Amino acid sequence: MITKEQREKLAQEGKKISDNISHIKHRIVVFSGKGGVGKTTVSVNLSYGLHTHGYKTGILDADITGPNVPKMTGIKGNVVTDGDHIIPRESHGVKIISMANLLPADEAVVWRGPLRSKMINQFLGDVEWGDLDYLVADLPPGTGDESLTIAQNMKPDMAIVVTTPQEVSLIDSARAISMAKKMKIPHIALIENMSGLICPKCGHKIDLFGIGGGKKQAKQMDISFLGAIPINIEARKLADEGKSIVLKKKNADMSLSIFEIVNKIENSWN
Ligand SMILES: Nc1ncnc2c1ncn2[C@@H]1O[C@H](COP(=O)(O)OP(=O)(O)OP(=O)(O)O)[C@@H](O)[C@H]1O
Ligand SMILES: [Mg+2]
Repeated sequence: MITKEQREKLAQEGKKISDNISHIKHRIVVFSGKGGVGKTTVSVNLSYGLHTHGYKTGILDADITGPNVPKMTGIKGNVVTDGDHIIPRESHGVKIISMANLLPADEAVVWRGPLRSKMINQFLGDVEWGDLDYLVADLPPGTGDESLTIAQNMKPDMAIVVTTPQEVSLIDSARAISMAKKMKIPHIALIENMSGLICPKCGHKIDLFGIGGGKKQAKQMDISFLGAIPINIEARKLADEGKSIVLKKKNADMSLSIFEIVNKIENSWN
């Protein structure tokens, strides 16, 4: 049983979140069944891509225990508050909030689900996002508390499930797609990442993890397919230095795929 006071507090928190996110036109969640398939890479590069196309964009790093967005966007140091609000950091015009900028470097977050959810609610309700065209939430892998909290409170209008082409990843992404369907997210789409590798020396396409499984799965599960992103060794090196391939090398194969996906996202609302 919750007390009247607790009920009122919850209602207040809910109102604060809906007021704050009412200034954000489109809210996208990026998730996956498996870890390490490229959710953060996709979230960061799509956000820079959206910003390059003129949209006011933010990234909410919803991976509370393994926050990687600051590492990939080169953001160091802590966030500041103005008393009531948390001021997001900014990287090349994209606003960013992450647990990594709220704690001393290397400190482990060993929190159970309810505390992690509470932090996400703060990211939604207390961060000074201002008017945004897009807020992209980068989730931890799987279908845990963070995903549920985001789906309930951020009210996303698009879910992007990232998978790699191998069977093991596709099995898990089917679960993530089912979750998005259960949550009744209006647009559900799939991206196949690490889809082939062009040899930088000879230009030959190496079918490292397979190609095409994502497109087939999207068709089978009746969701949209946003595109395939190749493996790009330079993108990985740049990410390790806090830089993004779409900003540094606009004509790289991976950047072209990302911009094609950005176009498709823009056209999703027509
Ligand atoms: N298309 C790609 N080409 C080259 N490297 C990639 C590509 N996609 C992701 N990577 C690299 O693979 C690693 C894992 O990617 P990333 O951190 O984005 O995955 P994730 O799904 O967010 O992982 P986690 O589940 O741990 O949050 C990173 O080193 C990233 O730079
Ligand atoms: Mg990640």
